[in-house]
Amino acid sequence: MASPPITAMALRGGGCCSITHTGPPRSNGCRPWHVSPSLSILSPLLSSRLLRRRSPHHYQRHHHKTWIPSAAAAPVALFLPRFSRCRRLSPPRAASSSASSLQRLGNAGDGEGGTRALGILDRLRTGLALLRSVFPGGSWWALEEIAGGGKEKRVRTRQKDLSVLFALGRMWQLVAADRWIIYAGFATLLLAALSDISLPHFLAASIFSAQSGDSISFYRSAKLLVLLCFTSGICSGLRGCFFGIGNMILVKRMREIVFSALIFQDICFFDEKTVGNLSSRLGADCQQVSQVIGNDLNMISRNVLQGSGALIYLFILSWPLALSTLVICFVLAIIMIFHGQYQKKAAKSTQDITASANEVTQEVFSLIRTVRAFGTEKQESERYMKWLKKLADISLRQSVAYGFWNLSFGFLYHSTQVVAVLVGGASMMAGHFSAEQLTKFILYSEWLIYATWRMADNWSSLLQSIGASEEVFKLMDLLPSKEFLTEGLKLQKLTGHVEFVNVSFYYPSRKTIPVLQNINLTVFPNEVIAIVGLSGSGKSTLVNLLLNLYEPTSGQVLVDGFPVKDLDIKWLRGRIGYVGQEPRLFRMDISSNIKYGCTRKINHEDVEFAAKQAFAHEFILSLPNGYETLVDDDLLSGGQKQRIAIARAILRDPDILILDEATSALDAESEHYVKRLLHSVQSGSKIQRTVIVIAHRLSTIQSADRIIVMDSGNIVEMGNHLKLLSKNGIYARLTERQTDTIT
Ligand SMILES: Nc1ncnc2c1ncn2[C@@H]1O[C@H](COP(=O)(O)OP(=O)(O)OP(=O)(O)O)[C@@H](O)[C@H]1O
Ligand SMILES: [Mg+2]
Repeated sequence: MASPPITAMALRGGGCCSITHTGPPRSNGCRPWHVSPSLSILSPLLSSRLLRRRSPHHYQRHHHKTWIPSAAAAPVALFLPRFSRCRRLSPPRAASSSASSLQRLGNAGDGEGGTRALGILDRLRTGLALLRSVFPGGSWWALEEIAGGGKEKRVRTRQKDLSVLFALGRMWQLVAADRWIIYAGFATLLLAALSDISLPHFLAASIFSAQSGDSISFYRSAKLLVLLCFTSGICSGLRGCFFGIGNMILVKRMREIVFSALIFQDICFFDEKTVGNLSSRLGADCQQVSQVIGNDLNMISRNVLQGSGALIYLFILSWPLALSTLVICFVLAIIMIFHGQYQKKAAKSTQDITASANEVTQEVFSLIRTVRAFGTEKQESERYMKWLKKLADISLRQSVAYGFWNLSFGFLYHSTQVVAVLVGGASMMAGHFSAEQLTKFILYSEWLIYATWRMADNWSSLLQSIGASEEVFKLMDLLPSKEFLTEGLKLQKLTGHVEFVNVSFYYPSRKTIPVLQNINLTVFPNEVIAIVGLSGSGKSTLVNLLLNLYEPTSGQVLVDGFPVKDLDIKWLRGRIGYVGQEPRLFRMDISSNIKYGCTRKINHEDVEFAAKQAFAHEFILSLPNGYETLVDDDLLSGGQKQRIAIARAILRDPDILILDEATSALDAESEHYVKRLLHSVQSGSKIQRTVIVIAHRLSTIQSADRIIVMDSGNIVEMGNHLKLLSKNGIYARLTERQTDTIT
């Protein structure tokens, strides 16, 4: 909605005292403006000052940079409906137009001709502003608005950019073990460049010796030409091959390092990052960075060599002419630096936006059933389109920048020829220069300018790769979670004595919300304890702390008297059987899924035994390939997945078994059998272990030794089933509700 014209409000004597830029840019690129009357008490004092200080001209002067580029988001659509839409929405324009209207009303009266003239003037002014913003350095080129989004991104763009040398140094470290490939690449590059640069000389020499009838020189030059053709071709081929291999090594090492850095991060790291974003860094960003060796460096070096060779030759031919070509190349190099910097910035934004787009695709495809069930395909497409549009916007600017760059090159390239012909021709007429020399000069100046141009192209591509490398290097530099840095204690035997001592906790991603508060709980060896409580009361969080997935904010979790953080975490987790609330399966056969993560030697009988215990054997046999059936998260029912996860936990023969809602999706019969897992411990069978079971279905846990009732991060009740019923508290209420539902 357009805000009212500022001057009009002021003239009406309204309390127009604060005029603010509110909210993010709208989809059409314009920012909404808000004129607040909230300071009306101060209006007598402020209005005159504000009118003076924040006159429409003030906005024109100080804010055109903010709003004009948005309006002009697409130069291809200059003066098209989109642009006029933005104009209507933009209060500073409204303010300025109303200001000029008022001014002109005073001067020119109220005629129709006057209004039309005002309209034309307005358009002219807007057009000019737009034109100014599109020129190099203008606000249209700013990428932050597009990459935009949150404060965090803006902060990131202000961070110090990675220097080319530093980035190249890091890449060199990655390929250093196979440096001979790079050396071989450079050696062949040198030979190819020398051959290439010698060609024009012998070309001109052959032509002019043929013209003068000097057959000996002609054949000698022709033979050399043939030889140079071969060496240039062969060396260019080898160069491409060696650098290509270097490229492959670089991208492989980068991905290895990034992946291993990521997989050893704290779990809270993954609470903050999305899968789509991380896979984008691993995929697209690493690929873009690898261009450095395979393409950019290789081409830059080749062109530097060829350009330098050409320049030396030009100086030998005629230094005044060489100097004129050098000046042109220098101008080209300056433009190249600006262009390269811009492309680097654009590449960084592109990487960020691509990562965000990947987040959307990853989320949508992994939740495709939910999307289909709720019919949100169109909204999801639009969400994706939003990022595509941003990518297109950046790409548009990059293309226009490239256009400017090519335009400069075309102009400067032809200038060298014109200068060479003019100055060289004059020298020829004066008898200082021969036709052969002039021909060679033109050929080599062409080489020089082309080398500069290609070098510039590769330079900007190099800067883009460096831009993309920033996030990759950041990920590579992540230190592993400290649980992997220290080697903890391994106990001879685990009895399964668990203690929570004064444990409080909040998730690092939500530092203000306490999830557990002063929890004190002791679980004795071979005891079966059940944890119940309303959803969100902190049950799963409690077992997450026992598994050391997170560290308590205060207090300690002890296993057999040792703080879990001091124990060898891999060993400890190997002694704990855990069935999570939402069991997930890997895309592999059922047998491998059951064996997953088990370090001891397992045979098929063990797998079958575990599956039978989990009441999964029969349904597994009914699948097309039995235990060899390929499954993943989507190919089995919830209850079947739970049973496989239970079998996986049992197979480890753990000392502590944690079942977090492990039977929630099981039918009554399956649950009845799976409940034997708890009873087998109590009935004094050979299997002795501590069991912690979390369940909403209270029938599952009635026979537990102790039931812990949690509410809002606190333990509020504790005791066995009958004791808790007699207390008539939360547990009794929950039981009553469930019985109500059944009866
Ligand atoms: N990774 C996380 N980051 C931030 N907050 C979390 C995270 N996981 C859980 N929470 C919050 O912690 C609180 C306790 O969650 P928890 O999963 O422990 O509850 P619960 O008792 O297991 O619930 P339910 O019975 O529904 O499984 C909830 O408010 C939840 O929103
Ligand atoms: Mg839970």
